[in-house]
Amino acid sequence: MKTDMSATKSGPIRIAILFSGRGSNMQTLANHIATPQVNAEFVLAVTNRPKAGGIEVCEKLGVACLIIDHEEFDSRAAFDAELDKALRAAHVDLICCAGFMRLLNADFVNGWPDRLLNIHPSLLPKYKGLHTHKRALEAGDKEHGCTVHYMRPEMDDGPVIVQKTVPVLDSDTPDSLAARVIEQEHIAYSDALDVVLKKMAGN
Ligand code: GRF
Repeated sequence: MKTDMSATKSGPIRIAILFSGRGSNMQTLANHIATPQVNAEFVLAVTNRPKAGGIEVCEKLGVACLIIDHEEFDSRAAFDAELDKALRAAHVDLICCAGFMRLLNADFVNGWPDRLLNIHPSLLPKYKGLHTHKRALEAGDKEHGCTVHYMRPEMDDGPVIVQKTVPVLDSDTPDSLAARVIEQEHIAYSDALDVVLKKMAGN
């Protein structure tokens, strides 16, 4: 099933956030969505990890959190179908992947055209995949950062919405660089959401 792309909505855009870890991007996105100037509602969180720290974030926010444990599914397609079903049942308009460490198949991604966002801790197209901070340090990069982009079926691919850069210091370790990047991730995702919501409203 495809989301109707032609419809512009006047009511709040219904947002789902997918996460696998501690949920700091989800927390800052939720804070942003809760501000009065943002015409959106955080209606559902979904995690594929039953022990994810972000579940507690959802409890504190009072947002429904669905656990769909990927280990309980025989195939990637079966997991993706269950996720798709849950998002459609909640009448979600826009999905934000925020530290969601799970590849989604092409059928799923194509079913949400320009309704599926992701944040990645590198200046894409550099360093798709894992260990981005270590790879940037090993390459001797002087600049690193993060990207929020529309998702396409290829991993960490798709039109860039917002990028934020940070300097790489001689003294940096992967952890110190990650700490500088995550601060920018939190700003970038809210900025990107504003851009996307404006586009969805037809402005
Ligand atoms: C972020 O760096 C995100 O870009 C990456 O995983 C981390 C998740 O952090 N894919 P959090 O769960 O949002 O705190």
